[in-house]
Amino acid sequence: MILPVIMSGGSGSRLWPLSRALHPKQFLPLITKNTLLQETINRLDGDFLGDKCLDPIIICNNEHRFLVAEQLRQNNSKASRIILEPMGKNTAPAITLAALAALDDGDDPILLVLAADHVIKNIEAFQQAIVSASIFAEQGKLVTFGIVPTHAETGYGYIKQGSLLTANNEQVNATSYTVASFVEKPDLAIAEEYLASGDYLWNSGMFMFKASRYLEELAIFSPEILAVCKEAYSNKTHDLDFTRISADIFKQCPEDSIDYAVMEHTEHAVVVPLDAEWSDVGSFSSLWEVSEKDEQGNVSQGDVISQSTTNCYINAENRLVTTVGVDNLVIVETKDAILVAHKDKVQDVKSIVNILKAEN
Ligand code: GDD
Ligand code: MG
Repeated sequence: MILPVIMSGGSGSRLWPLSRALHPKQFLPLITKNTLLQETINRLDGDFLGDKCLDPIIICNNEHRFLVAEQLRQNNSKASRIILEPMGKNTAPAITLAALAALDDGDDPILLVLAADHVIKNIEAFQQAIVSASIFAEQGKLVTFGIVPTHAETGYGYIKQGSLLTANNEQVNATSYTVASFVEKPDLAIAEEYLASGDYLWNSGMFMFKASRYLEELAIFSPEILAVCKEAYSNKTHDLDFTRISADIFKQCPEDSIDYAVMEHTEHAVVVPLDAEWSDVGSFSSLWEVSEKDEQGNVSQGDVISQSTTNCYINAENRLVTTVGVDNLVIVETKDAILVAHKDKVQDVKSIVNILKAEN
């Protein structure tokens, strides 16, 4: 069986002031009328996995429980459970809790680990890649999905493709590559080198593996995370649809991402190429890229009037926003905050959020 695990605990700080601590980007309708979380669930619709796909596990911060429950209800979706983390400890512990919950049901399903905040436009190609990946996951591999890089992005993991692997079942002839190396978030010089070599793919941040295989690899490379998560999970409580993880224990868990904790070290990783118009909409420039633009290259949402304005992202939530003679800007107006940024500098929006956090 295949059990989707939707990681929904990020804060999306580079999309401030649209994305807020109490209402991060995965819960916003950024591209379509559905929120990114709802789109993530809907992307699994259809019978591409036959009757093998279970209802997803959603894992999120305790503070967001009602947002998640409400968005599932609006979407007519069911979760097999909603796991609540008392605090964010990054993705390695989150996936560990989901894997423990999966094994709790007595099976050892393949986990399809998805981020709640990605945009994928070609759903057919995405579903096809999942079917291929499931074959390698069934063989005990830890599968990642690799994207052909377009620029020297330092916010992604880089996968060096090794040798070709093939496998097939009644549905597909699947191909993947061994992972010659996995480097999470290299610095700019190294990212440029990787891009120029043509040997690397971006890690999409989505994974497929058997629950038990992930835990076996974690036991080797990050035993502390496994030990604390096991203890915290065994002290869980249930109320309504929620599985609550013990705060007293979970707070002792080391904070780490799956990329650093497992993927950089395991010898059992393979990469399935994914060409599905994927974006992680991490910043306003990537949001601009995936959104529909007018003839001047502007994305305008809300009450906006623009003259001689080109290549801008403008979002007016409450008031009229007007622009004259500007190029390449991000302008976001909300009730209590306004952001004006150069589109080439939007990675630094995070530093504004850090200043605000320090002030509060
Ligand atoms: N439940 C839970 N708890 N979810 C979390 C937590 C947590 O503590 N931290 C992050 N998440 C969720 C986020 O909401 C997002 O959906 C996903 O996990 C990935 O986390 P990010 O924080 O967005 O990771 P990243 O973008 O810096 O890096 C990852 O994704 C890149 C592609 O977008 C890595 O896997 C990179 O290698 C990859 O290239
Ligand atoms: Mg991300």
